[in-house]
Amino acid sequence: MENLKEILTEYTEKIDAVISERELAEVKATLFGKSGAITELMKNLKNVPPEQKPQVGKQINDLRVALNTLCDGKEKDLHRLAIERSINEEAIDLSIDGNFKRIGTLHPVNQIKNKLVDYFVGNGYIAYDSPEIETDYYNFQALNIPLDHPARDMQDTFFVSDGILLRSQTSSGQIRLMEKHKPPLKMICPGRVFRADDDSTHSPVFHQMEGLVIDKNVTLCDLKGTLEGFAKFIFGTQTEIRFRPSYFPFTEPSVEVDVSCFNCHGKGCRVCKNTGWIEILGAGMVNRRVLENCGIDPDEYRGFAFGMGLDRITMILCAINDIKLLWENDVRFLKQFD
Ligand code: PHE
Repeated sequence: MENLKEILTEYTEKIDAVISERELAEVKATLFGKSGAITELMKNLKNVPPEQKPQVGKQINDLRVALNTLCDGKEKDLHRLAIERSINEEAIDLSIDGNFKRIGTLHPVNQIKNKLVDYFVGNGYIAYDSPEIETDYYNFQALNIPLDHPARDMQDTFFVSDGILLRSQTSSGQIRLMEKHKPPLKMICPGRVFRADDDSTHSPVFHQMEGLVIDKNVTLCDLKGTLEGFAKFIFGTQTEIRFRPSYFPFTEPSVEVDVSCFNCHGKGCRVCKNTGWIEILGAGMVNRRVLENCGIDPDEYRGFAFGMGLDRITMILCAINDIKLLWENDVRFLKQFD
């Protein structure tokens, strides 16, 4: 009995002093292991006189249960401490500045371009990609602008070498499409164009979007309806359009298209230079000669074409007065159009 009490006090202290799961396992082994203190006591029970056996057996069992309970309690304490420690160690300090990477945004001209491409593709047009480096034939001659034609002066062209140039208009895409594909055709051709021109509203590199529709019985009315739909989509549903007679060698008749000012709705303001109208694109019915140049019978098929400046439309919509701002790539400026 004395021995049992001693074991209880000794091991209560030992278990109390344990600070790791490994130490606890060691203590448990010295108690309940093969030659552990409790195991030995159980073994010696057979030497106890039979009349004392039930009482001694009960005492040993009580001791076993008591020590076991202490060990379980310790195990729970150690587990709780481990969790507390890892919470403290892994804690995130929310007051520290994050290491943020700035994610770029689409350039305003690309935003407008995507919007227009979505609009026209949604109306059954294909988006056509045409080369930026062109031959004189596709950029001029096939578009009914022969060598020495005064209309060439309308566009100051960059030549790469004899007969090879940087396209001055996406109209070259009209020819490339019509050469390869038979009508009916509905296409838009967005892309970069180049002209030796440089002031606050002109840049040597800028963006256009060409449109072309070829079918039987296409009329000027179809052109007007198409452009009205486009203008209302991009400038708002109140927008009206007007046609003014113009001249392009590849369209006949040709028109210059104005939209009513989205800012003052026609009253006159800074955006429309007090005219109530904003000029946005050139258009017309495809010239018979252009169709012939592409092997399309102008008595069977007719069509319309239009060409708009994407930088210009972006400048109007974003109230930007200098085209250079678009191409200096100052992120402080660009992120305003996020
Ligand atoms: N290509 C002409 C320009 O750059 C615009 C245009 C396209 C006009 C199609 C009529 C038809 O000015």
